[in-house]
Amino acid sequence: MTLGCAAGKVILLGEHAVVYGQPAIAVPVIEVQARATIEPGAAGQGVVVWAPDIGKRVVVREAPDDDPLACIVRHTLQKMSHGRASDLTIIVTSTVPIARGMGSGAAVSTAIVRALTRHFDQWLPSQAVSDLVYQAEVIYHGTPSGIDNTVIAFEKPVYFVRGVTREVFWVGKPFLLAIGDTGIESPTREVVGDLRQRYHADPAGYGSLFERAGVIAVGARAAIAQGQVDALGLLLDENHGLLQQMGVSCPELDRLVAAARDGGALGAKLSGAGWGGNMIALITEETRGRVDLMLRLAGASNVIITEVR
Ligand code: PMV
Repeated sequence: MTLGCAAGKVILLGEHAVVYGQPAIAVPVIEVQARATIEPGAAGQGVVVWAPDIGKRVVVREAPDDDPLACIVRHTLQKMSHGRASDLTIIVTSTVPIARGMGSGAAVSTAIVRALTRHFDQWLPSQAVSDLVYQAEVIYHGTPSGIDNTVIAFEKPVYFVRGVTREVFWVGKPFLLAIGDTGIESPTREVVGDLRQRYHADPAGYGSLFERAGVIAVGARAAIAQGQVDALGLLLDENHGLLQQMGVSCPELDRLVAAARDGGALGAKLSGAGWGGNMIALITEETRGRVDLMLRLAGASNVIITEVR
């Protein structure tokens, strides 16, 4: 039996703008994990992926090209030159909430890559894992920027510019985030597609929102490196305002953001694609209890506290 695990993630700043070439920052969330366990399978079955939580069983050699679980298995086996793998069952479980902007798809894919490489006594650098996972992300999300696979494969805070750079960067002083779940699925593919249409109708207007988000991400990176949490909080607030103007927030997200600020958070914003999913709030040891309570009173279906370091 071989095990591969992967953490979830949240986008700290720069979602959506990152699709248009602006920088974004994402951080791993180790409190949630995807796990892939490999066991010997029945003779002749080939590779089967079994996800009991979602009742999905995929026979890889029979699955269509656009099945993300089969896709990640095929690409990983090809990469390791094990095109005709033996009879294996890969059991996938995950505590990463689905469709909440926490990278559930990328976490499952990464766990599968890690389990398969371990099973075949091989090792891949994080960049190679990230590149493999990107293939499945395309199936999940259409035109992903690549930030999810990057932060999850590296499992470190990442400063990311699509197609240009990804830098694992220094956190001057660890800080705490509260992640509040609206309980509503965030339809990443639709939100990104909808925004793209509006962008095409008004490239100058949306372009300037994306540019400002990029400036905020650059400032946030400096604030994080220098341990300036107050400055980071203000930047989170400003980024939320831009995301509202981009049309990707919703009343439930805005309510949780306001509740976190009322509870004493240094800043708060939606995180990920929007129209549901999660928001994040920058908190301290002193405010964590109150913000957690305020979020739940405002309707959060779950709150996760994570430390970024
Ligand atoms: O829902 P998430 O966390 O995967 O958010 C997607 C982030 C976007 O910037 C909206 C899209 C992307 O591919 O980066």
